[in-house]
Amino acid sequence: MTAAVDLAARIRAAADRAVADVDVARLPGFLNAIDEVALLAMAWALRGGGLFRDGSAHTEAEIAAATGTADRHRWILRRWLDVLSRHGLLHGDGTRFTRTRAVGRRELREAARALTAAGDGLGYPAAMVDFLQRAFAQLPALLRDEVSVQALLFADGEADTADGAYRENTVNRYVNAAAAEAARWAAERRPAGAPVRVLEIGAGVGGTTTDLLGALVDVPVDYVFTDVSPYFLDLGRERFGERPGTRFALLDANAAPLGEGVVEPGTRDLVVAANVLHNAHSVDACLRGVRELLAPGGLLLCVDTCRELPQILASMQFLMSPRKGGLGPGAHDFRAGTDRVFLSRPEWEDALRGAGLTPLASAPGPEHPLDAVSVTLFAARREGREGAG
Ligand SMILES: C[S@@+](CC[C@H](N)C(=O)[O-])C[C@H]1O[C@@H](n2cnc3c(N)ncnc32)[C@H](O)[C@@H]1O
Repeated sequence: MTAAVDLAARIRAAADRAVADVDVARLPGFLNAIDEVALLAMAWALRGGGLFRDGSAHTEAEIAAATGTADRHRWILRRWLDVLSRHGLLHGDGTRFTRTRAVGRRELREAARALTAAGDGLGYPAAMVDFLQRAFAQLPALLRDEVSVQALLFADGEADTADGAYRENTVNRYVNAAAAEAARWAAERRPAGAPVRVLEIGAGVGGTTTDLLGALVDVPVDYVFTDVSPYFLDLGRERFGERPGTRFALLDANAAPLGEGVVEPGTRDLVVAANVLHNAHSVDACLRGVRELLAPGGLLLCVDTCRELPQILASMQFLMSPRKGGLGPGAHDFRAGTDRVFLSRPEWEDALRGAGLTPLASAPGPEHPLDAVSVTLFAARREGREGAG
């Protein structure tokens, strides 16, 4: 069996075991239902300022002015106009948009409320449904930049909602279990007694860290937990600081050279990046940086969403709007000028190859029910002699 076949079979089997308690075939339908409500919420949020009355047509600039959309969120408004047109809630002629039907507050509230029961038994955390319901109801204020997604995410001052988003929900349990199995696979390739050297980028609330450190419980580690935000480093220290071999450092995925002063080039057996690399100004430059940090034979474990989901567009995407003078995701790569954030699966595979990494395995596979959700783990290797360094 080749290394790639072995790794793919192992990570997919481990991921399936992790979600065996859930009827995963039902999950894509539920996530689609959330997307439908997200679309209603966007359509509802665009009714402000007397827009679309009596069949009137408006340009994007007029809609931005009437809704008070903050300049930094204009790209989100453009994405909304595009997806609402594609889903039939608006009609666009390329310049002006008309409404195909009005969405009222009551319709939105009822549709959002129905989600609470629909998620039962699917391992979708209630805190996450609450968060989305709050975000949908606050879309007009989010557009105007009067409310922040951070305030909605950490509404109770705790990380419970973010935990729900990145750690406890079925899709993430699946990909995190796959990543953990890949870490075990990598550990087996280290000389006995040598630490597994890990750099985690954008570790956040540590959804993936928990599973990885769990998988590496019997081996020594040099685990560098990093994030661009000091808040998450404090949280990481609190959650993982007692494990021997853990370190915590600030690291920006856009820095060049990547990881300077944090880890030595050519030393990492694993670089882990879950739900973060799409934020890079250039995924190509960032992936080249990752390659330089990997030891020969080392693996990048990258988890990302491979399509634009309306529910993200109406919630988390507000986190990605740059501050004045800053750059947004993709500003320096093929996404520049497109307002796109997420790469498709073939685009990730091309970007990995372009950076000198070999895509070895991914999960879920194309035949899996969770493939429709499109959150994917990619394991890609820096070629060279394993165990060097
Ligand atoms: C969507 S969260 C994912 C958190 C975690 N990896 C998980 O999946 O549980 C994205 C994380 O990436 C971090 N982040 C955003 N931009 C970054 C950048 N340019 N460099 C490093 N981290 C970044 C954020 O602070 C946040 O913690």
